[in-house]
Amino acid sequence: MKVGVAREVKPDEYRVALTPAGALELIHGGHDVAVETGAGEGSAFSDESYERVGARIVSVDEVWGESDLLLKVKEPIASEYGRLREDLILFTYLHIAADEPLTRALVDSGVCAVAYETVETPRGALPLLAPMSEIAGKLASQAGAYFLEKPFGGRGLLLGGVPGVAPGRVVIIGGGIVGYNSAVIALGLGAQVTILERSIDRMRHLEEVLSGRVSLLMSSSLQIASSVEDADLVIGAVLIPGALAPKLVTREMIAGMKEGAVVVDVAIDQGGCLETARPTTHSDPVYVVDGVTHYCVANMPGGVPITATKALTNATLPYVEEIANHGLRDAVARDPELAKGVNVLGGRVTYQAVAQAHELDYTPLDAALALSA
Ligand SMILES: NC(=O)c1ccc[n+]([C@@H]2O[C@H](COP(=O)([O-])OP(=O)(O)OC[C@H]3O[C@@H](n4cnc5c(N)ncnc54)[C@H](O)[C@@H]3O)[C@@H](O)[C@H]2O)c1
Repeated sequence: MKVGVAREVKPDEYRVALTPAGALELIHGGHDVAVETGAGEGSAFSDESYERVGARIVSVDEVWGESDLLLKVKEPIASEYGRLREDLILFTYLHIAADEPLTRALVDSGVCAVAYETVETPRGALPLLAPMSEIAGKLASQAGAYFLEKPFGGRGLLLGGVPGVAPGRVVIIGGGIVGYNSAVIALGLGAQVTILERSIDRMRHLEEVLSGRVSLLMSSSLQIASSVEDADLVIGAVLIPGALAPKLVTREMIAGMKEGAVVVDVAIDQGGCLETARPTTHSDPVYVVDGVTHYCVANMPGGVPITATKALTNATLPYVEEIANHGLRDAVARDPELAKGVNVLGGRVTYQAVAQAHELDYTPLDAALALSA
């Protein structure tokens, strides 16, 4: 198969969808890999590093026009819609339930669009979202520690303390992948960590893997209010799959926090779990409400593209290989996890939540495949 890797064009996006190591695996598998000029630059992969493993460096027109399978990181933006075509398989983060113009462009073009974020295991895990949650979780504690420093607008507190001086208090709301990874870094810095969770089973698991080094408390409005009041750093990390994040921290709770405390709302990509949160960017990451610094960067992993690109390729490569080795039709027949990733095929919406979100007809994947045969 001809596998293409497009250069990302969204502002602040430095990741690339395939590393040279991943390209080599595909080339060993007998595939042709074409990488758009400069695609790996932001992640410190030069064009030469792709050429050395046998990939071709091509123009934007070639990569979009000649690939059978095109790999990207972010969804196509309006200027790329015209490049979508019927005989192309596009594999990327799409998040189209929240993007009607893109959904229409995908449907109208006849492209086969496979979304990283909806590839799903039988147990409901999302293997192509997990690595980004791991990164965002770790960054959340780092960012919090940084913005607690006085010159950056913080209280002027060292999260780890020193002998004789108490450490800072970190409160993490939501103990999933983001929450766990935030806790690991906050603990590593020496902070006192509390995780508020709603799932007792998840708390049992966290108790075990964190060896009892964090306080685990049932999440309720009352508990959130009292924990947030005492906190130096609050990290919002809840997720209700397929829904906007619940506003668990109210404006009143924020007003009751210490002057110079920091809140990091990782769940901002789902609307945020703080009433006072609004999305920010890496170039302008924080703002202050009632004396509390808010960090709400919507694409946190974009800030560490070297790590994020490698983590993404590690997770996506097995699925890329399945599509390249077997073609989409056989690949989805063999692997139900990958089948869940197909959102649009041959002009039909094959993912129910997307169809519902935009009041479009839903066609089950099998039927869409049969119709496009
Ligand atoms: N900003 C970014 O760059 C970025 C990057 C990755 C993930 N995220 C977002 O981070 C959030 C968390 O992702 P995740 O992968 O950790 O999800 P996850 O499903 O692994 O964890 C979410 C946890 O929240 C818990 N929860 C749900 N309601 C709760 C409540 N009322 N109180 C306390 N806990 C509650 C769930 O039980 C679950 O354990 C998501 O919104 C995700 O989209 C953002």
